[in-house]
Amino acid sequence: MPKITVSVQRRASDQDARSFETHEVELSDKASVLDALFALQRGPCPDLAFRFSCRVGMCGSCAMVVNGREQLTCSVLVKDIGNTLRIEPLRNLPVKRDLAVDMKPFFAAYQRTLPNFTPRDDLDPSDFYRLPLDSKEWKAMSHQPQCIDCGACYSACTLVTLHPRYVGPMALHRALNLIVDPRDKSRSERLNLVTGEAGAFRCHTLGNCRDVCPRGISPTHSIERLKRLAVWEPFRKMFARIFPA
Ligand code: SF4
Ligand code: FES
Repeated sequence: MPKITVSVQRRASDQDARSFETHEVELSDKASVLDALFALQRGPCPDLAFRFSCRVGMCGSCAMVVNGREQLTCSVLVKDIGNTLRIEPLRNLPVKRDLAVDMKPFFAAYQRTLPNFTPRDDLDPSDFYRLPLDSKEWKAMSHQPQCIDCGACYSACTLVTLHPRYVGPMALHRALNLIVDPRDKSRSERLNLVTGEAGAFRCHTLGNCRDVCPRGISPTHSIERLKRLAVWEPFRKMFARIFPA
C-alpha cells in the first residue's frame, strides 16, 4: 500500500490562526481523499473535524479545497491527485473547526433570490402541469444537471471574496432555473432581485465556478443568460402589453 503525505488545516475557530498538521498515511489504490481523512482520524488526528454524509457524491457535504482546488473529497481518488495532499476548508465561508465550514452565508445568499417555486394562478394546483418535450417552452428551460449545494462554486468565486453581498454562482444558477420556468409567476420580481447590484452583473465571467463544479454545471453560462434576460425584460413586457396572450 503506497504511503501518502497529507497536510490538513487545523483551526479551533474562525478567529484562530491557520496551521497545518502533516502526517504520512498508508492507503489503498482505490482510496478517496475522504478515506485519507478517515485514516488520519483513526490514527494521529482523532479530533480532526470535517463534514461528510453520503460518500457517493450525492449530498455535497464533503467539498473541500484539495491542493488548491475545490473537490468533492469522497469522489476524487488520491492516486489521481498525487502522493502529497494539502487539504483546506472551503474558502469564502467562516471556519467552524479544522475542515468544517459554516454554510450559513452560502444559504443566506440563496434565500435572498426568492428561491421557492410560485405556481401561476391559472394552473390547477391539484394537477402537475407537464410541458411537452418538443414544446418551445420546454426547450427554453435550463437543462443543466441538478445542483447538490456543495458550495464549491461559492468557494472558488473571487467575486464572492471581493464583494461579500454578491449572491454567488449557485444562487444565480438556481434563480435562472425558476425564471425560465413558464409555470412560475415570479419571473420579473426574481429577475430584478438577481440582476441588481449584488447579482448577475457583478460577475466578471472568470469561469472558476464552472471549472470546479463536481456536477458539471456551468453557473457562468446561467449568469450570462440572466444578463441577457435582464436586458430584454423591458422589451418582453412591452410586447406583452401590446400583444396580450
Ligand atoms: S453549482 Fe455545482 S459547485 Fe455550485 S453548489 Fe451546485 S453542485 Fe456545487
Ligand atoms: S459525502 Fe456526500 S458528496 Fe461526498
